[in-house]
Amino acid sequence: MEATVLDHPLCDHKISLLRDRKTPGILFRRVLEELGLILAVECTRHLPTEPVAVETPLERTQGRRLTSLDPVVVPVLRAGLGLLPPFLQLLPTAKVGHLGLYRDHDSLVPVPYYRNFPPLLDQRYVFILDPMLATGGSASEAVRQLKVAGAERITLASVLAAPEGVARLQQDHPDIRIFVAALDRELNDKAYILPGLGDAGDRLFGTL
Ligand code: PRP
Ligand code: URA
Repeated sequence: MEATVLDHPLCDHKISLLRDRKTPGILFRRVLEELGLILAVECTRHLPTEPVAVETPLERTQGRRLTSLDPVVVPVLRAGLGLLPPFLQLLPTAKVGHLGLYRDHDSLVPVPYYRNFPPLLDQRYVFILDPMLATGGSASEAVRQLKVAGAERITLASVLAAPEGVARLQQDHPDIRIFVAALDRELNDKAYILPGLGDAGDRLFGTL
Protein backbone atom coordinates (compact mmCIF):
# COMPACT_ATOMS: atom_id res chain seq x y z
CA MET A 1 0.00 0.00 0.00
CA GLU A 2 1.14 3.59 -0.66
CA ALA A 3 2.52 5.35 2.43
CA THR A 4 0.65 8.55 3.33
CA VAL A 5 2.96 11.46 4.08
CA LEU A 6 1.10 14.23 5.91
CA ASP A 7 1.40 17.48 4.06
CA HIS A 8 0.45 20.18 6.54
CA PRO A 9 2.07 23.42 7.69
CA LEU A 10 1.56 22.47 11.35
CA CYS A 11 3.53 19.27 10.78
CA ASP A 12 6.35 21.18 9.06
CA HIS A 13 6.49 23.66 11.93
CA LYS A 14 6.42 21.08 14.70
CA ILE A 15 8.88 18.69 13.05
CA SER A 16 11.36 21.54 12.72
CA LEU A 17 11.09 22.04 16.49
CA LEU A 18 11.76 18.32 17.05
CA ARG A 19 14.75 18.40 14.73
CA ASP A 20 16.41 21.33 16.51
CA ARG A 21 19.15 19.96 18.77
CA LYS A 22 18.55 22.88 21.16
CA THR A 23 14.91 21.95 21.80
CA PRO A 24 14.75 20.91 25.48
CA GLY A 25 13.25 17.60 26.53
CA ILE A 26 10.06 19.08 27.95
CA LEU A 27 9.26 20.83 24.65
CA PHE A 28 10.30 17.78 22.63
CA ARG A 29 7.78 15.66 24.55
CA ARG A 30 4.98 18.18 24.13
CA VAL A 31 5.55 18.72 20.41
CA LEU A 32 5.76 14.97 19.79
CA GLU A 33 2.34 14.67 21.43
CA GLU A 34 0.96 17.46 19.26
CA LEU A 35 2.18 15.66 16.14
CA GLY A 36 0.63 12.49 17.56
CA LEU A 37 -2.76 14.22 17.59
CA ILE A 38 -2.48 15.13 13.91
CA LEU A 39 -1.34 11.59 13.08
CA ALA A 40 -4.20 10.12 15.10
CA VAL A 41 -6.76 12.18 13.18
CA GLU A 42 -5.30 11.22 9.81
CA CYS A 43 -4.69 7.55 10.36
CA THR A 44 -8.16 6.85 11.75
CA ARG A 45 -9.89 8.10 8.59
CA HIS A 46 -10.71 4.57 7.46
CA LEU A 47 -12.45 3.50 10.69
CA PRO A 48 -15.99 2.39 9.82
CA THR A 49 -19.05 4.13 11.26
CA GLU A 50 -22.73 3.26 11.39
CA PRO A 51 -25.88 5.36 11.72
CA VAL A 52 -27.14 6.23 15.18
CA ALA A 53 -30.31 8.10 16.18
CA VAL A 54 -29.59 11.30 18.13
CA GLU A 55 -32.00 13.67 19.91
CA THR A 56 -30.62 17.19 19.71
CA PRO A 57 -32.25 19.81 21.99
CA LEU A 58 -34.33 20.74 18.90
CA GLU A 59 -35.17 17.57 17.00
CA ARG A 60 -34.41 13.96 16.26
CA THR A 61 -31.67 13.38 13.68
CA GLN A 62 -29.30 10.72 12.47
CA GLY A 63 -25.65 10.80 13.55
CA ARG A 64 -22.85 8.29 13.17
CA ARG A 65 -20.82 6.26 15.63
CA LEU A 66 -17.73 4.10 15.30
CA THR A 67 -18.55 0.46 14.66
CA SER A 68 -16.80 -2.73 15.65
CA LEU A 69 -14.84 -3.48 18.75
CA ASP A 70 -12.65 -0.83 20.31
CA PRO A 71 -9.40 -0.36 18.38
CA VAL A 72 -5.99 -1.27 19.74
CA VAL A 73 -2.98 1.03 20.00
CA VAL A 74 0.43 -0.56 20.39
CA PRO A 75 3.32 1.76 21.28
CA VAL A 76 6.71 0.26 20.44
CA LEU A 77 8.83 0.78 23.56
CA ARG A 78 10.29 3.05 24.30
CA ALA A 79 9.82 5.96 21.91
CA GLY A 80 6.32 4.89 20.86
CA LEU A 81 5.14 5.78 24.37
CA GLY A 82 5.46 9.44 23.37
CA LEU A 83 2.60 9.01 20.88
CA LEU A 84 0.29 7.11 23.25
CA PRO A 85 -1.37 10.06 25.09
CA PRO A 86 -2.66 11.79 21.91
CA PHE A 87 -3.99 8.53 20.49
CA LEU A 88 -5.81 7.78 23.75
CA GLN A 89 -7.14 11.33 23.81
CA LEU A 90 -8.94 10.70 20.50
CA LEU A 91 -9.63 6.99 21.06
CA PRO A 92 -10.34 6.95 24.80
CA THR A 93 -11.78 3.42 24.85
CA ALA A 94 -8.93 1.88 22.86
CA LYS A 95 -7.19 -1.15 24.28
CA VAL A 96 -3.44 -0.77 24.70
CA GLY A 97 -0.90 -3.41 23.75
CA HIS A 98 2.79 -3.03 24.53
CA LEU A 99 5.74 -4.25 22.53
CA GLY A 100 9.32 -3.87 23.73
CA LEU A 101 11.93 -3.83 20.97
CA TYR A 102 15.36 -2.27 20.76
CA ARG A 103 17.70 -2.06 17.83
CA ASP A 104 20.98 -3.91 18.40
CA HIS A 105 23.63 -1.22 17.87
CA ASP A 106 25.87 -3.40 15.70
CA SER A 107 23.58 -5.70 13.77
CA LEU A 108 20.63 -3.20 13.73
CA VAL A 109 18.38 -6.22 14.17
CA PRO A 110 15.42 -5.51 16.51
CA VAL A 111 15.63 -7.44 19.78
CA PRO A 112 12.22 -8.23 21.35
CA TYR A 113 12.07 -7.99 25.17
CA TYR A 114 8.42 -7.51 26.12
CA ARG A 115 5.00 -8.25 24.66
CA ASN A 116 1.49 -7.87 26.02
CA PHE A 117 -1.41 -7.70 23.53
CA PRO A 118 -5.15 -7.45 24.26
CA PRO A 119 -7.51 -10.22 23.05
CA LEU A 120 -9.58 -10.37 19.84
CA LEU A 121 -6.86 -8.80 17.71
CA ASP A 122 -8.35 -10.42 14.61
CA GLN A 123 -11.52 -8.33 15.02
CA ARG A 124 -9.95 -4.97 15.85
CA TYR A 125 -8.22 -2.15 14.00
CA VAL A 126 -4.66 -2.02 15.27
CA PHE A 127 -2.45 1.10 15.32
CA ILE A 128 1.29 0.65 15.87
CA LEU A 129 2.93 3.79 17.29
CA ASP A 130 6.61 4.48 16.74
CA PRO A 131 7.96 7.97 15.95
CA MET A 132 10.90 6.63 13.93
CA LEU A 133 10.91 4.36 10.86
CA ALA A 134 14.59 4.00 9.97
CA THR A 135 15.66 0.64 8.45
CA GLY A 136 12.12 -0.60 9.03
CA GLY A 137 13.38 -3.60 10.99
CA SER A 138 11.54 -2.70 14.21
CA ALA A 139 8.26 -1.85 12.49
CA SER A 140 8.41 -4.98 10.37
CA GLU A 141 9.00 -7.11 13.49
CA ALA A 142 6.13 -5.34 15.30
CA VAL A 143 3.77 -6.09 12.40
CA ARG A 144 4.99 -9.69 12.26
CA GLN A 145 4.34 -10.24 15.97
CA LEU A 146 0.88 -8.68 15.75
CA LYS A 147 0.00 -10.83 12.72
CA VAL A 148 1.14 -13.98 14.54
CA ALA A 149 -1.16 -12.90 17.39
CA GLY A 150 -4.06 -12.61 14.92
CA ALA A 151 -4.16 -8.96 13.83
CA GLU A 152 -5.34 -8.39 10.26
CA ARG A 153 -6.03 -4.65 9.98
CA ILE A 154 -2.82 -2.88 10.91
CA THR A 155 -1.74 0.77 10.55
CA LEU A 156 1.69 2.18 11.43
CA ALA A 157 1.83 5.80 12.66
CA SER A 158 5.32 7.37 12.59
CA VAL A 159 6.64 10.89 12.71
CA LEU A 160 9.83 10.57 10.64
CA ALA A 161 10.60 7.91 8.05
CA ALA A 162 13.55 7.12 5.83
CA PRO A 163 12.76 5.93 2.30
CA GLU A 164 14.63 2.71 3.13
CA GLY A 165 12.26 1.98 6.03
CA VAL A 166 9.11 2.62 4.02
CA ALA A 167 10.38 0.35 1.22
CA ARG A 168 11.29 -2.43 3.66
CA LEU A 169 7.89 -2.32 5.34
CA GLN A 170 6.03 -2.26 2.03
CA GLN A 171 8.03 -5.26 0.88
CA ASP A 172 7.62 -7.28 4.09
CA HIS A 173 3.97 -6.33 4.72
CA PRO A 174 2.30 -4.88 1.62
CA ASP A 175 -1.12 -5.07 3.30
CA ILE A 176 -0.57 -2.52 6.09
CA ARG A 177 -1.30 1.19 6.08
CA ILE A 178 1.62 3.56 6.75
CA PHE A 179 1.20 7.18 7.90
CA VAL A 180 4.23 9.40 8.43
CA ALA A 181 4.39 13.09 9.26
CA ALA A 182 7.54 13.56 7.13
CA LEU A 183 9.70 11.53 4.78
CA ASP A 184 13.40 12.27 5.20
CA ARG A 185 16.32 11.89 2.76
CA GLU A 186 18.25 8.78 3.75
CA LEU A 187 19.97 6.77 6.48
CA ASN A 188 23.56 7.40 7.53
CA ASP A 189 26.10 4.59 7.98
CA LYS A 190 24.80 3.95 11.52
CA ALA A 191 21.20 3.75 10.23
CA TYR A 192 20.17 7.10 11.72
CA ILE A 193 17.69 9.12 9.70
CA LEU A 194 19.08 12.20 7.87
CA PRO A 195 18.39 15.04 8.47
CA GLY A 196 16.37 13.35 11.24
CA LEU A 197 16.05 14.38 14.87
CA GLY A 198 18.57 12.10 16.56
CA ASP A 199 17.56 9.33 18.94
CA ALA A 200 13.88 9.84 19.66
CA GLY A 201 13.80 7.62 22.77
CA ASP A 202 16.81 9.32 24.34
CA ARG A 203 15.45 12.82 23.68
CA LEU A 204 12.00 11.88 24.94
CA PHE A 205 13.21 10.27 28.15
CA GLY A 206 16.36 12.31 28.84
CA THR A 207 18.76 9.38 28.51
CA LEU A 208 21.24 11.16 26.25
C1 PRP B 1 14.19 3.41 17.69
C2 PRP B 1 12.82 3.82 17.22
C3 PRP B 1 12.34 2.61 16.48
C4 PRP B 1 13.61 2.08 15.89
C5 PRP B 1 13.64 2.45 14.44
O1 PRP B 1 14.12 2.63 18.81
O2 PRP B 1 11.97 4.24 18.25
O3 PRP B 1 11.72 1.65 17.32
O4 PRP B 1 14.70 2.70 16.58
O5 PRP B 1 14.74 1.90 13.81
P1 PRP B 1 14.62 0.77 12.70
O6 PRP B 1 13.54 1.21 11.76
O7 PRP B 1 15.97 0.76 12.06
O8 PRP B 1 14.31 -0.53 13.37
P2 PRP B 1 15.42 2.11 19.62
O9 PRP B 1 15.82 0.75 19.13
O10 PRP B 1 16.47 3.16 19.60
O11 PRP B 1 14.85 1.89 21.08
P3 PRP B 1 14.27 2.95 22.13
O12 PRP B 1 12.93 3.40 21.61
O13 PRP B 1 14.14 2.14 23.37
O14 PRP B 1 15.24 4.08 22.27
N1 URA C 1 15.96 5.55 15.87
C1 URA C 1 15.96 6.86 16.25
O1 URA C 1 15.51 7.20 17.35
N2 URA C 1 16.46 7.75 15.38
C2 URA C 1 16.94 7.42 14.16
O2 URA C 1 17.37 8.31 13.42
C3 URA C 1 16.93 6.06 13.80
C4 URA C 1 16.42 5.16 14.67
